[in-house]
Amino acid sequence: MSAFSADWLDLREPVDHRSRNKGLAQALARHFDCWRPITVVDLGCGTGSNLRATAPLLGPEQHWTLVDRDQALLDAAVPRLTTWADGWDGGGDKLALFKGHKRIDVTFRRADLADGLDAALGPAAHLVTAAALFDLVSAPFIGRFTAALAARKSAFYTVLTYDGDQRWTPAHPADAAMTEAFHNHQGRDKGFGPAAGPAAPDLLSESFAGAHYTVREADSAWRLTEADTALIGDLAQGFAAAVAETGAVEAASIASWRALARTGAVVGHTDTLALPPLR
Ligand SMILES: C[S@@+](CC[C@H](N)C(=O)[O-])C[C@H]1O[C@@H](n2cnc3c(N)ncnc32)[C@H](O)[C@@H]1O
Repeated sequence: MSAFSADWLDLREPVDHRSRNKGLAQALARHFDCWRPITVVDLGCGTGSNLRATAPLLGPEQHWTLVDRDQALLDAAVPRLTTWADGWDGGGDKLALFKGHKRIDVTFRRADLADGLDAALGPAAHLVTAAALFDLVSAPFIGRFTAALAARKSAFYTVLTYDGDQRWTPAHPADAAMTEAFHNHQGRDKGFGPAAGPAAPDLLSESFAGAHYTVREADSAWRLTEADTALIGDLAQGFAAAVAETGAVEAASIASWRALARTGAVVGHTDTLALPPLR
């Protein structure tokens, strides 16, 4: 089990996909232009959203391993991937997806990244990727993770890492106190030790630059409008619940903050592309 439901991941998927930084996505596509086949590991894959957004950027023959600790999310990935594809074959923990002119072989691996990173990563892949994962991990994990990828000479592409920017429309007098408490909550242990939270993008780029990777970062903020009311509502309720757990903001302030009808929000994210040194 995890704190992430398939319903929540479904709700955020279209916003995640439109928010990904297009320049960085094109840089990834250029780097892997003509690679055939390409091997990819997606960490904390949830229901496969990252594959659905990233596979179109890669070549005609792809081998993906989708890794998550939550079997229910791995199970929920299967119908979502076969529906997304134009055609498919297989079953169990192996699928062949056909999308346009691409063949995408998918293997599912249930593994806890915090317990055994090498087992979760498996043999060297050309690309290790993740979406909306790295704010959950700790600074020491990022160090171990960088070393594991450098040893494999794998490229790294992660999207939608929370970067601390948070603005709501309309504003509320408790916004600043709520955000501060939320960031304290974000730093709690999510299974990897104290979580990096909004420090994760900087920690990733420093760590990979230290391993002589070429690192690029780019903005992938959610810019939510009235068309995203359902996501704004869920986000605000989850945010308020996390703040309430900290005890740092008075209950009356939280109740008043929760009650405000919102028409927009900006949630800052960063995408990171780290390419290994040529040897
Ligand atoms: C915010 S969700 C993102 C899911 C998916 N990447 C997406 O973009 O829709 C974080 C995912 O990381 C997974 N996760 C969290 N901690 C993990 C761990 N220690 N090992 C493996 N997966 C983990 C969760 O189960 C969840 O699927």
